[in-house]
Amino acid sequence: MSAVRLSRALCLAALLGACAPRPVPEAAPAPSTLKAAYRGAFLVGAALNAAQFSGRDTAGAALVAAQFSSTTPENVLKWESVHPRPGVYDFTAPDRYVAFGQQHGMFIVGHTLVWHNQTPRWVFTDATGNPVSRDTLIARMHEHIDSVVGRYRGRVGGWDVVNEALDEDGSLRRSPWLTIIGPDFISLAFRFAHEADPGAQLYYNDYSLENQAKRQGAVALIRRLQAEAVPVTGVGLQGHDRLDWPTVEQEDSTIAAFAALGVKVMITELDVDVLPRAVRQTGADVRLSAAARPELNPWTDSLPDSVQLALARRYAEVFRVLYRHRGEVTRVTFWGVTDKDSWKNNWPVPGRTNYPLLFGRDGRPKPAFAAVLAVPSLGATGP
Ligand code: XIL
Repeated sequence: MSAVRLSRALCLAALLGACAPRPVPEAAPAPSTLKAAYRGAFLVGAALNAAQFSGRDTAGAALVAAQFSSTTPENVLKWESVHPRPGVYDFTAPDRYVAFGQQHGMFIVGHTLVWHNQTPRWVFTDATGNPVSRDTLIARMHEHIDSVVGRYRGRVGGWDVVNEALDEDGSLRRSPWLTIIGPDFISLAFRFAHEADPGAQLYYNDYSLENQAKRQGAVALIRRLQAEAVPVTGVGLQGHDRLDWPTVEQEDSTIAAFAALGVKVMITELDVDVLPRAVRQTGADVRLSAAARPELNPWTDSLPDSVQLALARRYAEVFRVLYRHRGEVTRVTFWGVTDKDSWKNNWPVPGRTNYPLLFGRDGRPKPAFAAVLAVPSLGATGP
């Protein structure tokens, strides 16, 4: 960090309360990396793109290796990438992803096995374009999970087995998985994954679980799975947040609700959107889109200091909740590394300049980084 930036970060840390006088017993130097600051509390991860884990983005790869203790692949393990045609698998990119994680001693996550997006149409249809039978789709799902999970057995530590199976009202989403197989597609997916790697952690992952109705649906779903002895070990809260959503109370009570079920809780795709709201829904339905308008993209050159500060405060507030729940929360993963890489530049409006992560477009830490680093040493008190 340059001296100017460092002093700005320190000023912000002061504003956030980081410089309030407190007794410091022979203080060891404060950790300067996310993974060190949260060691013993939870893993801190990042979603990686191919440029980062293949080393083409040398600065990005170095930043990841220095800062993070866990990785998730942003796209390369999704069905359309790894299994684009019947009987055709392409493991080139996932093999590099897993090798990168191993090389840096990281906890490696697989994302995702059963989802309604980024899954080719052929998976659900026969040669004439009609929906396949329940048995055929189960067989395809089984073969896919067996091939992908089996290949990385013992190396990928946890899988997002089922992604986004719930609608906003908490009922099961009417995806082709549900309409063709029925509600037991979820338990089948978990059983197939467990069979392929009995040692892997297996997660249900979704967005907007902080909202009451959807959270209740997810709690009921996990209870049903547990009652049927389905091997679900964790729930992933995606965490595509905004400056004002979810509230601290929502975050806190959502983590508590899942922890009470005895499953691990993870924040799996954290980012904080600072741009004007373009769609009504919270969360991250990747099929939503809104037309570009200049007023939806106000900060194309740089982020005003006031918003930079609001983002730092917001990250501090979120991490205070997560740190309070350390032990129940086992991993916090950011959906990207620098603002330049973030999917939020193109969702739900294409071509915007968003600032959702801890590192700026130039790879330098933003004030939000200092704010997040400071939380463990300050204790998790406050709002
Ligand atoms: C996003 C990726 O970041 C984009 O590159 C891709 O075009 C669409 O998917 N919820 C998820 C992630 O579970 O897989 C999504 O990732 C973001 C929302």
